[in-house]
Amino acid sequence: MKILITGAVGFIGSHTAERLQSLGHEVIGVDNFSPYYSETLKKLNEKALTDKGITVIQKDLRDEDLVSSLPKDINYIFHFAAQPGISKTSTFEDYFTNNILATKNLLDYALQLPDLKMLVNIGTSSIYGLEATFPESMAAKPASHYGVTKLAAEQLVLQKSREKLLKSCSLRLYSVIGPRERPEKMYTKLIACAFNNTAFPLYQGSTTHLRSFTYVGDIVDGIVSVIDKETRVDGEIINLGTEVEHTTQEGIEAVEKVIGKSIKMNHVEARAGDQLRTKANIDKAKKLLDYNPKTTLLEGVKKQVEWYKTNFL
Ligand SMILES: NC(=O)c1ccc[n+]([C@@H]2O[C@H](COP(=O)([O-])OP(=O)(O)OC[C@H]3O[C@@H](n4cnc5c(N)ncnc54)[C@H](O)[C@@H]3O)[C@@H](O)[C@H]2O)c1
Repeated sequence: MKILITGAVGFIGSHTAERLQSLGHEVIGVDNFSPYYSETLKKLNEKALTDKGITVIQKDLRDEDLVSSLPKDINYIFHFAAQPGISKTSTFEDYFTNNILATKNLLDYALQLPDLKMLVNIGTSSIYGLEATFPESMAAKPASHYGVTKLAAEQLVLQKSREKLLKSCSLRLYSVIGPRERPEKMYTKLIACAFNNTAFPLYQGSTTHLRSFTYVGDIVDGIVSVIDKETRVDGEIINLGTEVEHTTQEGIEAVEKVIGKSIKMNHVEARAGDQLRTKANIDKAKKLLDYNPKTTLLEGVKKQVEWYKTNFL
């Protein structure tokens, strides 16, 4: 199949692109190389993709000419491109345009594809709100501009399924970790602090936060397993993540254990909208996708440390 991945040079999109290509699909990536974080890292990810024969188109999904700029013979779309995370440096405009307008533009394009089997939207546990421990039927109560705009994007996509204009589903991911994790996220930052002997900015009160820290390979397993299940998953929201919870403190200790040194902490003000507890309820993913994430936190951290050492030391 010919598959389009939006946000292809980002963290999870790049892993998914590689996996789909290794499964024998023709993969085309699209990404605007957003300046939200280091272009160097995105270029590194792009090189890994192009070295494997994956085409990457540099294009902003918000551009008015999107419909005429992308190939028409696409069979599947995985939509990762977004303004991710909760960050003081991201404006409401950033979330609104990259999450809602870009998704609307992508849908206008998708609706013109004669051979499209499915559009898979990548959602987030942030849609649930400060606590994300629920099945998909739970009402959304997002507590950040990120969560609100990702909810709107998800609904824009699923609306097309309800109207029977195309087949789609939305996968809500939980705290993804592993090689290529975004530089502003916890594990990449912890690893960088450990190797550079700098202090880790620890958000006030966050050590007891609980998270379903899920290894990126296990997330990609769930994402690609949608293929050939289009009828079963059409119109559905499905959580993807591990059922194993860890505190932020346990995450810090895992990095210290793998690297073999303690990390200095710099206590900083808590982030508004930061989730208190995420625990993926994956009963639906097990039923519909045979989903079974297996990687432990320590195994995931080891792989992420190896990736960091190879590329940044
Ligand atoms: N990382 C996580 O733990 C996590 C958890 C839940 C959900 N998600 C979701 O997974 C997806 C990928 O997240 P990630 O962590 O890989 O982030 P990322 O920032 O590494 O990847 C997103 C990519 O999208 C690109 N992009 C952004 N706006 C664009 C636009 N307007 N046009 C074209 N490209 C654009 C960026 O340049 C980037 O390469 C996002 O939709 C995010 O909401 C991530």
